[in-house]
Amino acid sequence: MYYSLHNLSYHYNGLEPFIEEQTVKLHHDAHHLGYIKKLNAALESVQYKEIPLPDLLRNLREVPASIRQVVRDNAGGFYNHNLYWEALVAKEQSIPEKLGKALNERFENFKNEFIECSLSWVGSGWTWLYLNAQKNLQIGVTINHDNPLMEYCPLQGTPLLTLDLWEHAYYLQYKNDKKTYFNAFFNHISWTYVEQLYLQAKQK
Ligand SMILES: [Fe+2]
Repeated sequence: MYYSLHNLSYHYNGLEPFIEEQTVKLHHDAHHLGYIKKLNAALESVQYKEIPLPDLLRNLREVPASIRQVVRDNAGGFYNHNLYWEALVAKEQSIPEKLGKALNERFENFKNEFIECSLSWVGSGWTWLYLNAQKNLQIGVTINHDNPLMEYCPLQGTPLLTLDLWEHAYYLQYKNDKKTYFNAFFNHISWTYVEQLYLQAKQK
């Protein structure tokens, strides 16, 4: 087996009231797992080499054309959900100093800009905070399961935080009220984890 599902660092109900248990269970154990199974099956079908996930995403052109789109969709789905879950936490955290300073220098109001960017997107996708090649913090949205590591992606850089805009992430609970889902997300961000990724990416 190439890749496997990561365990959550909190209980299925650990993100309530932001995301209810039923949605977390379905999202993690059905949707997230589904992407991994399809990815593994596609790679297995051509006996593809075993490589770290970020390298697979960065080098999609090397993947045989017959499975490239399946790999793009499902490796993206796998990676994006990993980051989504890992950058969430049960208890609200304040933003650590170094990351807070960087966000304040780059954005007038990071939260508002991130939410406005998410609201402006139509259809499935992901909102990102990422560090671009010039080491600047950026906000942007990618379509489907694309992400800033992929060479095909209009956004390029190191992902630091992501928000799932697919309806399966919120619809059971929030219906069409995406704005409330986006706002509640900010009460459960693991800022210590995001800062760790930020500092690592800055040093590269
Ligand atoms: Fe999702």
